[in-house]
Amino acid sequence: MIVGVLGGGTMGAGIAQVASQNGHNVVLVDINAAVLERSRSQLQKIMIRLVTKGRLSREEADLTESRITYSQSLSDFSECGIVIEAILEDIEIKKQVFSELENNVPENTILASNTSSLSIASVGAALKNPSNIVGIHFFNPAPLMPLVEITPAVQTSNETLDKAKSLIDGWGKVTVLCKDTPGFIVNRVARPFYGEALRIYEEGVADFATIDWAMTAIGGFRMGPFTLMDYIGNDVNYAVTETVFTAFYYDPRYKPSFTQKRYSEAGYLGRKSGKGYYDYSENASNPAPKEDLALGKQICNRILVMLINEAIDALFLNIGTKESIDLAMTKGVNYPKGLLRWADELGLDFVLLKLEELFVEYGEDRYRPSPLLRRMVKNGETFFG
Ligand code: NAI
Repeated sequence: MIVGVLGGGTMGAGIAQVASQNGHNVVLVDINAAVLERSRSQLQKIMIRLVTKGRLSREEADLTESRITYSQSLSDFSECGIVIEAILEDIEIKKQVFSELENNVPENTILASNTSSLSIASVGAALKNPSNIVGIHFFNPAPLMPLVEITPAVQTSNETLDKAKSLIDGWGKVTVLCKDTPGFIVNRVARPFYGEALRIYEEGVADFATIDWAMTAIGGFRMGPFTLMDYIGNDVNYAVTETVFTAFYYDPRYKPSFTQKRYSEAGYLGRKSGKGYYDYSENASNPAPKEDLALGKQICNRILVMLINEAIDALFLNIGTKESIDLAMTKGVNYPKGLLRWADELGLDFVLLKLEELFVEYGEDRYRPSPLLRRMVKNGETFFG
């Protein structure tokens, strides 16, 4: 099957590489010729690196490069069995492009969007045959991150869904099925990792370095929230939070933070701008964490129970199964453990107690425990027995 990829930026280029490495001929289309040239030369560099490291033979690398054709015209998708779109995150532009796209592909071509936060139903509404739409959400960098969230919209046919899932499974990815709701699984469940960390900072409980230390040294996360936000970009991370917050009808649980908004407004975007919560300029000295174990545990538990509550609520609302919710967080964002398994280990009664303490102390809906958590504690149940 010929695979089309629309948009040759960060994600599109990565998805094209994955498809090509799995033996498909790929057509990569972008409106910008310079982007296509950059994708091509970056792929060459990646291939050289993989060959040098002995991960790929020169022959396989050559084949991977030769299977991708670069184009600026949608008409080159005319023989594709699937087109995965990864253009900018703007619903009006995506709709316009999907409706043009549909006129350039065979009738049964699967039309997939890699959107992180827009509704698949709304993208599908631009199509004459919306049963071909499906969400196929890769994580950055696409060739390295195993997780792919597959999201059927209300219009998606079973055939489209099955074909899309088995194709991506065949690429060796870990797929999870999600409901078409804001942030799907990962970008919904992960919100408190950033939001609660920012809130803790805003209350003056601890500084960035101490919160990051707590989450890495005690929590076992690969990166602390502030280091991670600097890595993602404060503008990008803020925009996702704001989209999720708005899309959830202003549920206070997802409320964005003024700190992050001001950092974005000031141009303190993180690594890419040389300064974010930390200073990335040469010879910069960043404050050391206050390595106070009691404080660290308090910070870590507060963020962790909020994450667990979010994961439980996603299960309560059937956004994914318990297995897929845990897989999503370990394979999509490298969490050290699945949150539901983690909840079992901590004890669901402990998680509920901590949330109730926060709820009573703050009186904010943000800390309301999921009804499923209450029910499970009442019945003495666990997730994985
Ligand atoms: P990017 O900005 O690197 O690339 C977007 C590309 O789309 C650009 O090269 C641009 O020239 C091209 N483009 C814009 N309009 C076009 C059109 N009408 N026709 C053809 N090409 C067009 O963006 P990135 O980061 O690759 O994101 C793409 C999509 O993937 C977005 O929907 C984003 O939300 C989603 N996504 C991004 C992730 C990330 O970490 N960057 C992770 C997962 C999903």
